[in-house]
Amino acid sequence: MQTHEIRKRFLDHFVKAGHVEVPSASVILDDPNLLFVNAGMVQFVPYFLGQRTPPWKRAVSVQKCIRTPDIDEVGITTRHNTFFQMAGNFSFGDYFKEGAIEYAWTLLTNPVDQGGYGFDPERLWATVYLDDDEAFGLWQEIAGLPAERIQRRGMADNYWSMGIPGPCGPSSEIYYDRGPEYGVEGGPVANEDRYIEIWNLVFMQNERGEGTSKDDFEILGPLPRKNIDTGMGVERVACLLQGVDNVYETDLLRPVIDAVAARAPRGYGQGHHDDDVRYRIIADHSRTAAIIIGDGVSPGNDGRGYVLRRLLRRIIRSAKLLGVDDPIVGELMATVRDTMGPSYPELVNDFDRIQRIAVAEETAFNRTLASGSRLFEEAATATKASGATVLSGADAFTLHDTYGFPLELTLEMAAEAGLSVDEEGFRSLMAEQRARAKADAAARKQAHMDLSAYRELVDTGPTEFTGFDELVSEARILGIFVDGRRVPVVSHETSAESDNVELILDRTPFYAESGGQIADEGSITGTGASVSAKAAVTDVQKIAKTLWTHRVKVESGEFVEGDTVVAAVDPRWRHGATQGHSGTHMVHAALRQVLGPNAVQAGSLNRPGYLRFDFNWQGALTEEQRSQIEEVTNQAVEADYEVRSFTTELETAKAMGAMALFGESYPDEVRVVEIGGPFSLELCGGTHVRSSAQIGPVTILGEASVGSGVRRVEAYVGLDSYRHLAKERALMAGLASTLKVPSEEVPARVANLVERLRAAEKELDRMRLANAKAAAANAAAGAELIGKVRVVAQRMAAGMSAADLRTLAGDIRGKLGSDPAVVALIAAPGERSDGKSGGDNDTVPFVVAVNQAAQDLGLRANDLVKTLAAPVEGRGGGKADLAQGAGKGAAGIDAALAALRAEIDRS
Ligand code: ALA
Repeated sequence: MQTHEIRKRFLDHFVKAGHVEVPSASVILDDPNLLFVNAGMVQFVPYFLGQRTPPWKRAVSVQKCIRTPDIDEVGITTRHNTFFQMAGNFSFGDYFKEGAIEYAWTLLTNPVDQGGYGFDPERLWATVYLDDDEAFGLWQEIAGLPAERIQRRGMADNYWSMGIPGPCGPSSEIYYDRGPEYGVEGGPVANEDRYIEIWNLVFMQNERGEGTSKDDFEILGPLPRKNIDTGMGVERVACLLQGVDNVYETDLLRPVIDAVAARAPRGYGQGHHDDDVRYRIIADHSRTAAIIIGDGVSPGNDGRGYVLRRLLRRIIRSAKLLGVDDPIVGELMATVRDTMGPSYPELVNDFDRIQRIAVAEETAFNRTLASGSRLFEEAATATKASGATVLSGADAFTLHDTYGFPLELTLEMAAEAGLSVDEEGFRSLMAEQRARAKADAAARKQAHMDLSAYRELVDTGPTEFTGFDELVSEARILGIFVDGRRVPVVSHETSAESDNVELILDRTPFYAESGGQIADEGSITGTGASVSAKAAVTDVQKIAKTLWTHRVKVESGEFVEGDTVVAAVDPRWRHGATQGHSGTHMVHAALRQVLGPNAVQAGSLNRPGYLRFDFNWQGALTEEQRSQIEEVTNQAVEADYEVRSFTTELETAKAMGAMALFGESYPDEVRVVEIGGPFSLELCGGTHVRSSAQIGPVTILGEASVGSGVRRVEAYVGLDSYRHLAKERALMAGLASTLKVPSEEVPARVANLVERLRAAEKELDRMRLANAKAAAANAAAGAELIGKVRVVAQRMAAGMSAADLRTLAGDIRGKLGSDPAVVALIAAPGERSDGKSGGDNDTVPFVVAVNQAAQDLGLRANDLVKTLAAPVEGRGGGKADLAQGAGKGAAGIDAALAALRAEIDRS
């Protein structure tokens, strides 16, 4: 049975049983603790927690899921995918254990010609949570499972949560026995490769808090209702129904393997285990990468971007290890589109963008691999030159960490070069790095906002946002929090120490930070008995999307829960904020007009007077593109376009061509902001000016890269824009007056000055060289004889660099002829006239040169340099003929030269 058919049967089965079909959410939802959506239930979390009322009692979905913690298992086991489709049915306070077991059992075992999957009931097993006798009994009753095919397991296996605070509950899993050729008997507790998990039924009834692992977290208490959340692994079912050995050979993944095999010297399934694993990695990762890019992620160095980068790089490296050196990622993306497109039309509609981003990463990574290979050559040559045969763990780690070389690639290249690799050293550096990463992740989880404290209020909410129409609103205080704890009253005195005082209101004109616009500032003041109470609002955030919390500094008086207050946004602030946000839309529109539709928004931030806008784009903008964008934007300001906002259905808005952010999930009813009719149309919940002229001038400051394939423009708007220009004008006037030319002649004058400076420097270099030659001749003539050795030991002019000294010492040594000779030069600290030395001015550089005859007497420059170093508090080293160093104690120069003479005398 084909995968598309398996999906369809699942949906049909549950729709027939009264479930509403809900489309898959994006794999990116706006929860900072969840890198990717990893289960079908994620989009329903607020329903389970009781934060929102579910629109239906029963739902069914096939959700795109990403799970990467087991990435190293991919291709090695038969069943691990980083992307998979989770088919699930959900009950929100409707049916519970009995219904869930019944629905799952009938779909699995109903014959194929009656809409089921036709699994042999004799091969199915179930697990239940330790003490869940109810589920145990239901499996016997409903499915007729004998007791020995129902196993009890502990929290780690049969108590499900998302791994972060949220809904949770005991679960019951269904397994299929693939037969003795896949491993030992004894059910899932004995072997999970032979007994393969296909479906997890979660009896979602509690809420969990923080914790450290799957079986160590606090249970905060029961959810408002008992719910059902299930997840069936579509790929695993496909693997079984298609009679293939592993998930990678199912109908939607196999074509990727075949595409690679067509280009690789060794095929798939030819008895080379390592090769086969690489094929399977490529199949799995290609699909995951396409899906993630499709939902708006670009390769980057942290978070989601890093996961994507890692996936793409593993594909490329695996292909190289299979012997495919030419670019291949573009073709793999096309194969994924062809197989997955029927279920995920975004992969077809957005194919050009997906392919472009993936291929750009491949090109960049191939360049990195090339420089890694150079580093490898250098490390290998150095290792051999030192007489060793083992490449250091540190080298292997750098290759891995900086250049993305897997250890096996380094091993392979080392073997070709006749070297081995210190694998233990490599592993210990890897372990250190992992420990660091873990500590980072733990720190992130701590930052998770514990919503449980606000739960009661979420039920009394939502906060009504009045700020589109007014800046001052009367409101009631729903709740007060100090440092995360709910309190009945807060005063200036009691809260003076705290940075974390929150007032939650039933209505508010304050805009809460979202959609790239930062929160409004202003004040909240008391009325009636609390009339003396006054607080400054420093931040405003939304809780569970519905409740506005105002972070405040209480300046006087006290606020009591239930009080009526006046919430007032600072009008100047708001005016600036609207300029910033409308300006962002204008720059976005201008950018697309100039660069075309491929310049897709990747993020933005705006505050009064300033905006920045990130977008997908390869390569830097030209100066001309940049100024065109600025020109188009300012023309639109000048045109005084009307700014209009309205709400409509998501589909209608999209049909109108309104731009939405990739990966953002939007409700069915959306707000659209339109500036100048077709000029700019965006889904947006922000606050805006009434007409484009109110934005004032827009000045684009510059453009830069913020990660692979993402560029950022920054701009000033309104008065800040004017002030910026005024400052530039003042700068220019200053320059013109210094140069004594009209400002339009400044560029030519500066160019002329630079030209003359270069010529002067050249002349200076020439003269220095001539001087040095003369000095060398003088010094050689004045050589003293110590024993049999002719010695030049001199203090040189201030500011000579180590390089100058080296050249000079070499010259003098040359002039001293073939008798034993030693040259030692130390320069006093000081600034060089040409300012070229670049170092700090306190260093005392020194050089020792020894000719062959003196070396034959046992004098070595690398020994003598140490004698020189000590009195000037420095260090030095080098070879027998030439050594150099630097110190910082100029007072010791004479002592150093004396010590050197004494040393030569002794030898
Ligand atoms: N949410 C459950 C899981 O992901 C069904 O396994």
